[in-house]
Amino acid sequence: MVWSIDDWPGPIALSVEDARKDFPILQRKVGDGKKLIYLDNAATTQKPQQVIDAMSEYYRNNNSNVHRAAHTLASEATTAYEESRLKLKHWFGATQSRLVFTSGTTESINLAAHAWARTNLAEGDVIVLTEMEHHADIVPWQMLAKERGVELRWTPFDLETFELDMDAFAIAVKGAKLVACVHTSNVLGVRNPIEEIIHLTHEAGAKLILDAAQAAPHDRLYFEELGVDMLAISAHKMGGPTGIGALIINESTFQQMKPFMGGGDMIREVHLDHSTYQENEHMLEAGTPKIAEAIGWGAAIDWMAQWDIDSIHQHGLYLAQKTVAGLRKIPGMKIYGRHAEGDGAVVSFLHDSLHANDLAAFLDARGFAIRTGHHCAQPLLRKFNIAATNRVSYWLYNTEHEVDKFITAVTEICNKYA
Ligand SMILES: Cc1ncc(COP(=O)(O)O)c(C=O)c1O
Repeated sequence: MVWSIDDWPGPIALSVEDARKDFPILQRKVGDGKKLIYLDNAATTQKPQQVIDAMSEYYRNNNSNVHRAAHTLASEATTAYEESRLKLKHWFGATQSRLVFTSGTTESINLAAHAWARTNLAEGDVIVLTEMEHHADIVPWQMLAKERGVELRWTPFDLETFELDMDAFAIAVKGAKLVACVHTSNVLGVRNPIEEIIHLTHEAGAKLILDAAQAAPHDRLYFEELGVDMLAISAHKMGGPTGIGALIINESTFQQMKPFMGGGDMIREVHLDHSTYQENEHMLEAGTPKIAEAIGWGAAIDWMAQWDIDSIHQHGLYLAQKTVAGLRKIPGMKIYGRHAEGDGAVVSFLHDSLHANDLAAFLDARGFAIRTGHHCAQPLLRKFNIAATNRVSYWLYNTEHEVDKFITAVTEICNKYA
């Protein structure tokens, strides 16, 4: 079922069995007829039928470009696109702020670097990051640093507790202009002390961009209540389609931004010698936008709104903790992460004598889809002196039974091949 924001139902505790029914792909068989057990949700989640239907319905009945023509389809498409923006603003507690559609968290952070940082930072200015960042929250700042002579300061984390060194952060942030920080690590599942980071950042007079790619599927984030300046998210990690995400921006930061890409839709007037720009979010959305994707993301939000988000979080964390308990019984297995209250549903692990790729291939043959590699966080893995881990990550449709089967499979594979 899909609701409008005016009649989103009250929170109902997650029913995993009911939730699963909406995901046709979970019925799939892989390999030689093994039932798919999808444990790669931190990479991307599966999509409920309601999202697939909303996007097909748009292409079947309403497809048109937005903001331009006067005909019926254009007006329907424009309304649906802008309604999705409103819906997302409501969901993320950002009704008084700006929500710019991007292609995902990566583009959102690049947009912040181009539209805000390139305008507001100069040689010698400081950006504080953490050693826990995804490449999407490292490389854009390195490019800027190289181009503009901006200094990057790195906040370390502890190799035993997996926690950020907040004393180091408190020192690094002094005199900084911007902090770029991941809310929940896609490798360790650790939820960083965001409230303390926000407090210290603003006390230092800096702005904060939060990478919430992994938090949004499990946590209800209230942008204005949190008080961050920019928040980057991806639809595809929370039941929505690929190819769309958003940068949520508070008004004061938005007012300091300059257009990044030029072209249609972002202008007010174009003359041969100059142009003027839109003053709302469209200023940062040049060209034909991601219309079907925005509609699909809106449907994903409607779908998620039926469940109490805390129960989604607790369910994922419980599965992660159960996984850790099972993996710890396997000799030679190391777990990366603490899986404490508030953490994400991600478990990274590595066996000391079974190559991560081999374990993943054996598991694939048994129907398990897990992730292997550096998870786009090479500096983080390098700190542990490793090049890859295996990673399982859960969402609301994963079951305890799947975890049991997974632990049994890993145990058997390790007993046989390690
Ligand atoms: C923490 C984190 N940041 C950024 C990204 C990049 O997201 P996207 O590929 O959707 O742009 C990811 C994706 O895995 C992520 O986990």
